[in-house]
Amino acid sequence: MKLFLDTADIEEIRTVNSWGVLDGVTTNPTLFSKVKGMTYEEVLQEICAINGGPVSAEVVADDVEGMLREGRHYAKLADNIVVKVPMSENGLAAMSRFRAEGIKTNCTLIFTANQGLLAAKAGASLLSPFVGRLDDINEDGLTVIRELSEIIRFYEYESEVLAASIRNPLHMTQAALAGANIATLPFKVLQQMIHHPLTDKGIVQFRSDWDKARKAAAEKSSGASQPTATAATGSGA
Ligand code: E4P
Repeated sequence: MKLFLDTADIEEIRTVNSWGVLDGVTTNPTLFSKVKGMTYEEVLQEICAINGGPVSAEVVADDVEGMLREGRHYAKLADNIVVKVPMSENGLAAMSRFRAEGIKTNCTLIFTANQGLLAAKAGASLLSPFVGRLDDINEDGLTVIRELSEIIRFYEYESEVLAASIRNPLHMTQAALAGANIATLPFKVLQQMIHHPLTDKGIVQFRSDWDKARKAAAEKSSGASQPTATAATGSGA
């Protein structure tokens, strides 16, 4: 299973990249709005230089020509850019044009298996159902991941299911079990996946036992090299 980071924060990307678990990055206009002092193009180029996996750059135009213009512009920034296009009638038209031009796309804002099926047929490389946003309105986001993963495998589409809007570690495990090819995660969820109270407690315990054992060994060896009291006074037998 591939893990993407859902952020435009360069330091977060550097950190997760250094852990050796990063397969790609997804950005969106909301995530970019949190970045200060860089253009979207600069952010994308920097991310692409850090990680060679797919990096999603989202278009905001709602007409086909506008989507194509923005997407072609982002695709020229680096070889690993994937153009993120929202699910809509125009989005489908743009994705099929991008496919004809050899530009990879990530269909975003998918909330039903049917939307995902249409995006696969239009040629999107990545299909992004939003798990958390469905859970937020009392619908089961994981059902869409499960249904869409089954459809994609059954009909052997080349698209990959990318579980998006992941809000917690349980979503991550459930998305993996539901057959998602990829999950894109906020930095915080990746950190939560690393930690477990028993792991953290165990690390502290092992360190403390190690220190105690080393101290005892050091005392024993310094005691052995010291002359004994009887040998020093010459009053032994
Ligand atoms: C995916 O590509 C989106 O950027 C993201 O997962 C949306 O997550 P949110 O619903 O937490 O904003």
